[in-house]
Amino acid sequence: MALEIHQFPCLNDNYGFLIHDPATGATATIDTPEVAPINAALDEKGWQLTHILNTHHHFDHAGGNEPLKQKWNCTIVGAANDAHRIPGIDVKVADGDTYDLGSSQAQIFEVPGHTSGHIAYYFSASDAAFVGDTMFALGCGRLFEGSPEQMWDSLSKLMALPDEQRFTVLMSTHKPMRHSRCRLNPVMMTYKRGPKRLQTCAREGYQQCQRR
Ligand SMILES: [Fe+2]
Repeated sequence: MALEIHQFPCLNDNYGFLIHDPATGATATIDTPEVAPINAALDEKGWQLTHILNTHHHFDHAGGNEPLKQKWNCTIVGAANDAHRIPGIDVKVADGDTYDLGSSQAQIFEVPGHTSGHIAYYFSASDAAFVGDTMFALGCGRLFEGSPEQMWDSLSKLMALPDEQRFTVLMSTHKPMRHSRCRLNPVMMTYKRGPKRLQTCAREGYQQCQRR
């Protein structure tokens, strides 16, 4: 059974995502940009938070980990190779691992470049990948800790996801405008020559992508 995905705005230009496994009730927030909107979204949906799936350590992605864990006693999942920077981490995952959110299985990809310990969660049965700050609708994340070569390798992993009979919706954690003025033109110029059929969530959000 496919995940239910609820997208909502947080902070100035972040997206929050709640993902809900209907078979078991397991519910995760992708990152923790801002506590109040996440709790409000949980209230709105009537879901109980069981997991936090962190993509990377930045404050607008892991800053709400501890207050949310205190309120919900949820399990925090994050990158093994960046565990020391993920507050409250319980489960450490690495490239090639899988993680089960209830009955929904995520494949873990290490996608360094924006940070050294950035990961993405790919739920193949739901045709959805949560890519954090690795890729945006019109660009990619800034190279705070990695090299252009690392970022290119990471984008290549995302480009290899299914994009024909079934396409993968890539869900990034920022609205495109501010971050789309990519400082990594060599990387992005290369990217633009890649497959064009990968769909990304632009301003219209996940629901719009679903209608395509
Ligand atoms: Fe970031």
